Amino acid sequence: MNPRERVATLREEVARHNRLYYESAQPEISDFAFDALLRELADLEKAHPDLADANSPSAVVGGRPLEAFAPVRHIVPMQSLDNTYSEAELRDFVARVRKLCEGREPGFTIEPKIDGVAISLFYEHSRLVWAATRGDGVTGDDVTQNVLTIPGIPRGLPDKAPGRLEVRGEIYLPKATFAQLNAERDEEGLPAFANPRNAAAGSLKQLDPAIVARRGLNAVLYGVGEWSGSPLSTGCEFLQVLREWGFPASEAVRFASGEDAVAEAVEELGRVRHSFVYETDGAVVKLDNLALRRTLGSTAKSPRWAIAYKYAPERAETVLRDITVQVGRTGTLTPVAELEPVFVSGSTVSRATLHNEEEILRKDLRIGDTVVVEKAGEVIPAVVDVRKDLRNGSERFFSMPATCPACGAVVEKSGVAWKCHNPSCAAQLRRRIEYFASKNAMDIDGMGEALVGQLVEAGLLASIPDVYRLQAGMLLPLERMGGKSVANLLEAIDKSRARPLWRLLNALGIPHVGITSARDLALRFQTLDALAAASVDDLLAIHSIGDVMAAAIHGWFREPANQLLVADLRAAGLNLGDSDAPGAAPANSALAGSVWVLTGTLSRPREEVAEQIRRHGGKVTGSVSKKTTHLLAGEEAGGKLDKARELGVPVLSEADFLRLTGDADSNA
Ligand code: IVH
Repeated sequence: MNPRERVATLREEVARHNRLYYESAQPEISDFAFDALLRELADLEKAHPDLADANSPSAVVGGRPLEAFAPVRHIVPMQSLDNTYSEAELRDFVARVRKLCEGREPGFTIEPKIDGVAISLFYEHSRLVWAATRGDGVTGDDVTQNVLTIPGIPRGLPDKAPGRLEVRGEIYLPKATFAQLNAERDEEGLPAFANPRNAAAGSLKQLDPAIVARRGLNAVLYGVGEWSGSPLSTGCEFLQVLREWGFPASEAVRFASGEDAVAEAVEELGRVRHSFVYETDGAVVKLDNLALRRTLGSTAKSPRWAIAYKYAPERAETVLRDITVQVGRTGTLTPVAELEPVFVSGSTVSRATLHNEEEILRKDLRIGDTVVVEKAGEVIPAVVDVRKDLRNGSERFFSMPATCPACGAVVEKSGVAWKCHNPSCAAQLRRRIEYFASKNAMDIDGMGEALVGQLVEAGLLASIPDVYRLQAGMLLPLERMGGKSVANLLEAIDKSRARPLWRLLNALGIPHVGITSARDLALRFQTLDALAAASVDDLLAIHSIGDVMAAAIHGWFREPANQLLVADLRAAGLNLGDSDAPGAAPANSALAGSVWVLTGTLSRPREEVAEQIRRHGGKVTGSVSKKTTHLLAGEEAGGKLDKARELGVPVLSEADFLRLTGDADSNA
């Protein structure tokens, strides 16, 4: 292929992948592979100036606004960043900026490059006017209603904020939420999202804000477009100001000058980034001095004062030993790749979901193949490629079983998924009980996969209510069950009886109901009986509940088997929300009517503290406002603390808090 043909092919390919990425949020190739195509195109265009074209996808940012959202014109265009995977190019960047700074040694900030969806928030007279996606950089989609569902994005700013202000950042789906969302989609036979970025993009492009609200999106802000206030002097100062005004601003920001220190900071960030709640695919290095940034300006596409250093995803080759089939909580059969264990991105991978039969056919996977495994970020390992060139003829085709591998019932296809419809299938039962006992549901300490499997196999658990019928005498004869562990387990089970109603609602496994909707349902109906009696219209009156979920909930409570389940759980003494039930919030709760914001490092997970507040009748919100009644500040509290002081909101330590709730000794 001559350069002209290659350039034409590359332009077409890049444009196609751009559409898949930006418009349908369903990319076919990894960012790494895409960047390689784009890089090849740019290099060819550079080497053959006669082939240059202002409309080449190498010159535009990509992505056109969707039809369904109103277009918004950015006041200051949203640019992209130059990116590189090479340390040498990173060093060149630092040297280039130094040269442009005419001798002064410039300082740089190094911050995580969040793998999310770019967003611009426009505030006028301190009120949020619109939120828009990048689109083509000039015009984006108005996604204000969806962005308003994200806790932590301030609706209003302090009066001293500039009259006109565009704040830029990234909307992301936390890694843990992403894993959970995909597990749910898998169960429902929906295609999994390839990575958190796609899940965030897909969520933000939902036309129904109620669906967005349930997805659990979050945001980090790091940049500015229009700014009508008096100029600031550095990027660090800007981030500080964002924090003071209540924005979740970039954290883990490093500062360095000189090639060595910058490269070292980038490398160090690469080592710690796995512990961040969001997915990162690189580090953004930005010149800190804002006046110098203005002097340097930008090219048509990206600023000259910043560069993104991208961490290459780790890949490894291994052998696909077998494909097994897992039966989910709702009976969905999921094929799973059983791999020769291989070390990728910090851990050993021996299994990877293959999602569904079509995925296997599309990839033409055969048992015995050498496959390429990539950890899509650090989240889930995926089989991304097959080395067909290494086949020796001994590979075997895989086909989905005609019967459920767990119970032998005939399976049926629904959508892309095969399902087992036997309600007493042992595998489904196991998964349902595992889910019931899990962290986000009844949170029964110690009752994980292994134990549930053991108890089901021993015939001690044949239904969810059986969990509450377990007795020491039944458990002690089992393997690995000493007196101490039996006592701990029974205590954990007993404790779960008093869990708040939303946990039970999530635990029951009502189709489509997740944590957020379970919380909304508990808040609105207060008792399980009231919820069971609700009509479809009653349910639809809740903002976060749409047609599908309302019908599913209504139907669930009308199934005789489920009515029996509820009756059994009532008999077992679970908190069904009735006011005299154990664990229900007393009417005169310690924190009734209070509105809390949590900040800084607490000694326990935030969600745990938040739940404690809710249990005592309080509310928890993301940012400090006039409505905030208490700020609970842990160590290294920053902007929220300043803001609370400014507004005169009482600030409490964790010890003060425990005294207030009366939980000081129980550590509830
Ligand atoms: S600064 C002129 N900082 O990466 C653009 N961008 O590949 C200035 N991104 O368009 C962007 N984390 O959507 C900046 N800490 C960060 C970022 C970040 C993620 C995104 C952003 C940008 C894209 C470029």
